[in-house]
Amino acid sequence: MKSYDSIAVYYRKFYNVFFDRVSIIRFLKKIFYKFNISKKSKILDVGCGTGSLLRLLARMGFGHLYGVDRSSRMIKIAGCVLLSDNVKLYNEDFLKFDSKHRFDVILSTVDVLNHIDRKHLLKYLKKVKKLLSGDGIFIFDLNTQEYLERLAKRKKAVKRIKDMLLYWKFNKAGQKIIIHFSVIDRNRTVYDKIIQYIYREEEVEKLLEKSGFLIVEKVYDYKSSVKTSFCSKVCYVCKKI
Ligand SMILES: C[S@@+](CC[C@H](N)C(=O)[O-])C[C@H]1O[C@@H](n2cnc3c(N)ncnc32)[C@H](O)[C@@H]1O
Repeated sequence: MKSYDSIAVYYRKFYNVFFDRVSIIRFLKKIFYKFNISKKSKILDVGCGTGSLLRLLARMGFGHLYGVDRSSRMIKIAGCVLLSDNVKLYNEDFLKFDSKHRFDVILSTVDVLNHIDRKHLLKYLKKVKKLLSGDGIFIFDLNTQEYLERLAKRKKAVKRIKDMLLYWKFNKAGQKIIIHFSVIDRNRTVYDKIIQYIYREEEVEKLLEKSGFLIVEKVYDYKSSVKTSFCSKVCYVCKKI
């Protein structure tokens, strides 16, 4: 079982509470306009999860959409969610993924890169570069170091959403945080262990440079160029050098 497999059926019920899709979509619209991304552009969502972003893009009229995720259960749900849309989905680890297509946009949103360990992050970025068309753009976010360290200090958290109770325990181990996540509903409890790697912005920026990317935009929480103590995500838009 891969991480996210056991919580996949619940993911769609709670992601809206934690992830601000409205800000992501508003930001993407602005960036797509700025970089001439058209409805005919090929878009690959890496770590597409249950397909919610791809669905919004399909509703906006984008006709060449692709998604890849290593969790078989997340991608299975994406398949159901996107049944009526013409989206090609792959259940693969992106580090092993290849394609005959070259994409105009590659997305990795909502913490996907925090799941990639230090040994593999450069390989991940080089793969993105290889799959991107000459003028293509790579848009991704990361949970900031400060945010993950705040979580680690909290040690645990509980939230009730409708008839579900979500329970997290956070353990920091070196430069990673181990999240023990349980979802308890009326009938059962499911548990998942999720590891998020803590990256400093300078570290990621060096790796971007090393893999041949130029950062063309950097914002926090898909909204602001100003970093405050409340920010949880840093978001980058990159082009090939
Ligand atoms: C927090 S979820 C985000 C899902 C989706 N992007 C969203 O916005 O809802 C992270 C996803 O990244 C996927 N993932 C993590 N590492 C991956 C890898 N190496 N290759 C493909 N998918 C990966 C996980 O399986 C999970 O579905």
